[in-house]
Amino acid sequence: MAERHRTSEMSGFYTLDMAQRRRLVQEWANLSDEETAALEASLPLEHADKMIENVVGRCALPLGIATHFLVNGVDYLVPMAIEEPSVVAGVSFAAKLFRQGGGFQAQALGREMIGQIQVLDVADLDEAERAVRQAEPRILRHADFLQSGLVARGGGARGLEIRRFPESPVGPMLVVHLLFDTVDAMGANAINTLAEGLAPMIEEITGGRVNLRILSNLTDRRMARAEGRIPVQALARYGVSGEEVAQRILEAAALAEVDPYRAATHNKGIMNGVDAVALATGNDWRTLEAGAHAYAARSGRYTSLSRWWRTETGDLAGSLEMPLAVGIVGGATRSHPTARVALKILGVQTASQLAEVMAAVGLAQNFAALRALATEGIQRGHMALHARQIAIAAGAQPDEVDIIADRMVAENNIRPQRAEEILRLLRTHSENADS
Ligand code: MEV
Repeated sequence: MAERHRTSEMSGFYTLDMAQRRRLVQEWANLSDEETAALEASLPLEHADKMIENVVGRCALPLGIATHFLVNGVDYLVPMAIEEPSVVAGVSFAAKLFRQGGGFQAQALGREMIGQIQVLDVADLDEAERAVRQAEPRILRHADFLQSGLVARGGGARGLEIRRFPESPVGPMLVVHLLFDTVDAMGANAINTLAEGLAPMIEEITGGRVNLRILSNLTDRRMARAEGRIPVQALARYGVSGEEVAQRILEAAALAEVDPYRAATHNKGIMNGVDAVALATGNDWRTLEAGAHAYAARSGRYTSLSRWWRTETGDLAGSLEMPLAVGIVGGATRSHPTARVALKILGVQTASQLAEVMAAVGLAQNFAALRALATEGIQRGHMALHARQIAIAAGAQPDEVDIIADRMVAENNIRPQRAEEILRLLRTHSENADS
């Protein structure tokens, strides 16, 4: 397949069987047979045993591919690891509609991580702050010295922020933020090393005592933004006009803006997409969760991460802006065999590009949820997939799953006991047919 003339527009991808889907993805990303095999339960136990403690096994999740993504004019197939049905289908369909509006425009806004150094027992906060400001060039030089590898790759110290807390449960404190560009690494280790390495210097400069030295997960210096629009006529559904669907989506989004109870669910939908890409690519999804929700509450009132509006021509447009501290080197991104292949499928060249795609996925996922909620509700699609899971849990083999699930959905009776009954009937029937 030609390198960049390929399209991720793969209508009907879901109708293929798994071997056909794999073959397509293998061709798309030029995967070797070994890499393709790594898509399947590939983490060796000995490797797993070195990753965390007290290992007794592995925990596998389905790895799906979201299709139709066009971000900044580039086509992407997006690997997503997630246990929840409907997410991959929903986001792929959403990407197809956004494509009709020209795809997503996305930008990574900044690459700096924040390392926090907490200083206590400071006699005079003003004086200590002045001293840190004066010593800033020396502190930044030392930070660059401590992480010279990142400096060589284009990263490095970018500045200091000083935050003052004259009142806290343990008295006044000063917090020094080191802003450091970690390039293509998420950079948690680098930042924690830096915070620890700079602590003695900060103590000497402030005359105080350093306690915490750790990165902040509110990575608001490492944001990404995605925007896109959908022609209003593409929104028509089940006899409801595109105009009306757009209006209902705006109403749903407005609730998330004003009400934290709804915003939490709205943002959870965004994170369904973002986390699934993070998991597939070996990134730390807890970092992203922490950053997203802290950022959503930055004004003091928790609100939605996305915004939706109508354009001058009446199209539906949306944007998502959120902290996205992700990497394509370091951590599990390269050491986990499946994550490595997932990154190859995605084809991103930089961490910023990964963040851009993830922002687009978050926005698409948000749209998919809002559209379903504003039209048929999410249960219809969910139920079909839920029924399949119940069938699998009842012991159905791959060729039996859909038969049982379809029957349960038609009967509107999706329960383990019913799945077992249908399975028994099915097997008795096929035994009789065989004999
Ligand atoms: C379910 O995992 C996610 C949704 O609840 C998101 C939303 O309500 O916007 C459908």
